[in-house]
Amino acid sequence: MPIQAGTKLMYLADNHGRKINYLRLSVTDRCNMRCVYCMPETGIDKCQHVDILSYEQFLLIAKAAVALGIEKIRVTGGEPLVRRGILDFLAELTKIQGLKQLVLTTNGVLLPEMAQGLKDAGVQRLNISLDSLHPQMFRQLTRTDLLPQVLAGINAAEKVGLPYKINVVVMRGRNDNEILEFANLTRDHDCTVRFIEYMPTLKEKDWRSQVISSHEVLERLHQHYSLHPVERGPLSGPAEEFAIAGARGRIGVIAPLSGHFCQDCNRIRITASGRVRTCLFSDYETDLKPLLKLDDVKVVAHELRRLISEKPACHTLNSQVAGHSPFSMAQIGG
Ligand code: 5AD
Ligand code: SF4
Repeated sequence: MPIQAGTKLMYLADNHGRKINYLRLSVTDRCNMRCVYCMPETGIDKCQHVDILSYEQFLLIAKAAVALGIEKIRVTGGEPLVRRGILDFLAELTKIQGLKQLVLTTNGVLLPEMAQGLKDAGVQRLNISLDSLHPQMFRQLTRTDLLPQVLAGINAAEKVGLPYKINVVVMRGRNDNEILEFANLTRDHDCTVRFIEYMPTLKEKDWRSQVISSHEVLERLHQHYSLHPVERGPLSGPAEEFAIAGARGRIGVIAPLSGHFCQDCNRIRITASGRVRTCLFSDYETDLKPLLKLDDVKVVAHELRRLISEKPACHTLNSQVAGHSPFSMAQIGG
């Protein structure tokens, strides 16, 4: 329904009528892995330490955002658990009045020792990135041998009672033969396994040949299971979700390339160095640092509202002239 003149919006919206209620904070661009779709082998040009926002600055942004109507915050990286003091920071975030959900994305490596601390800090759920269950493919994809740590990390999350989702980036000719195995995890584990279309963030030359659409993932699953769609809550992400009959967990697919991803986009991102990125696939970023120096929640909120209103309608990944420069998700917040 078109918004009538004079209608009072009770929530934060952009100029395309999308409700914006989700903020992602990338608290570091450092990572203890080197995933092929995220970084070149040699790593990325890291931000200088002085450029990385302090936790106080992130808190100022978070308070401003929640005052505007943000209800959910995800802390990401790089790998957020490698940043010193992260547990105290998370505990501070949970104190912000009006914040409904605090969640975190991790590669799982440090979960064996940190899962309990995350639970105690008030984190409500984890997204754990895991692209292969086999040591050799895991090494090929992450350029590390840390699979045992990640699996122990998932067990640790279960043990302390932290709900989690597993994010699998599906790449043709690499891990696509593991789709069923990943889906099978949901039979005995009360978790969501989400298959994500590989996105050309680094703009590799042959990227299209490596993409497997969510449609194809579902087709392959349908050959083995009857999947039934499941309802999702108001703060849930862009995944379409299903369950195998009788399974404890759920299966999700995320289609940034082939799906109607942008029309439901409800998020903005803050990079580790304090830049606001309102669309992942637009080079347009705004540096918040000069404003943060004023240490005034209202000033930051005013700027965030302005930037949110200008959020682009859609990415240009499917057009011939892709509109973004190559970037690492570790720099922007995966
Ligand atoms: N394509 C799809 N997902 C990506 N991620 C990072 N880079 C990409 C990419 N090129 C997501 C993955 C990963 C998380 C940290 O960010 O879900 O698990
Ligand atoms: Fe690290 Fe995540 Fe990037 Fe992998 S995808 S290198 S785990 S930030």
